[in-house]
Amino acid sequence: MKFFIDTANLDQITEAQDLGILDGVTTNPSLMAKEGITGDDAVNVHYKTICGIVDNNVSAEVIGTSFNEIIREGELLAALNPKIVVKVPMIKDGIKAIKHFSSKGIKTNCTLIFSAGQALLAAKAGASYVSPFLGRLDDISTDGIALIKEIRLIFDNYNYPTEILAASIRGPLHIVACAMAGADAITAPLHAITALLKHPITESGLATFLADYEKAGTRRDIIAVTS
Ligand code: E4P
Repeated sequence: MKFFIDTANLDQITEAQDLGILDGVTTNPSLMAKEGITGDDAVNVHYKTICGIVDNNVSAEVIGTSFNEIIREGELLAALNPKIVVKVPMIKDGIKAIKHFSSKGIKTNCTLIFSAGQALLAAKAGASYVSPFLGRLDDISTDGIALIKEIRLIFDNYNYPTEILAASIRGPLHIVACAMAGADAITAPLHAITALLKHPITESGLATFLADYEKAGTRRDIIAVTS
């Protein structure tokens, strides 16, 4: 499963990249605003900086909502760096734009997916990714993981190459549930990804191992030889 980080914060992107498990970054206008990045020029510079940190995909969201605006903006974003994936909202003109980008070989991420029908339409138009928003569904007492399972079944039925990029992840259990449901990728905040590292028995077990090494008097010798 691919791991994307869902932020525009450069320190967090760098930390996730340094972990060695990162497949890319997703952003949205809210995440850019949270970092104080405003105006086309600053936004474009920020995308280029992010592309310089990570190895693979960087989803950059369009603001336009008409076909012509989405095309113009998406082509400008795609020209910034080959890693850019144009993030397009699930609206009628967005679907038309995804079809256009697909025919030009420009990668797309269809965002704000809340139903299997929306995902089917985006896949039919040739989206590279669909982004179902789990957390926002859970927030309204709707089963987000059930949606991932439905989309998985539909895409498998027709061998659609579109990847399911589970978004709006709130914590580590969402990530594990997405993996079990067959999502191709997740995008999550750094805290949800690093929470996967943690287990109290791992921590107490390691503390015991280190204490026993100390007691045996070998720990310092090992460090001295290997450092
Ligand atoms: C990613 O593509 C989405 O923009 C993001 O995951 C939305 O998450 P939120 O519901 O926490 O804002």
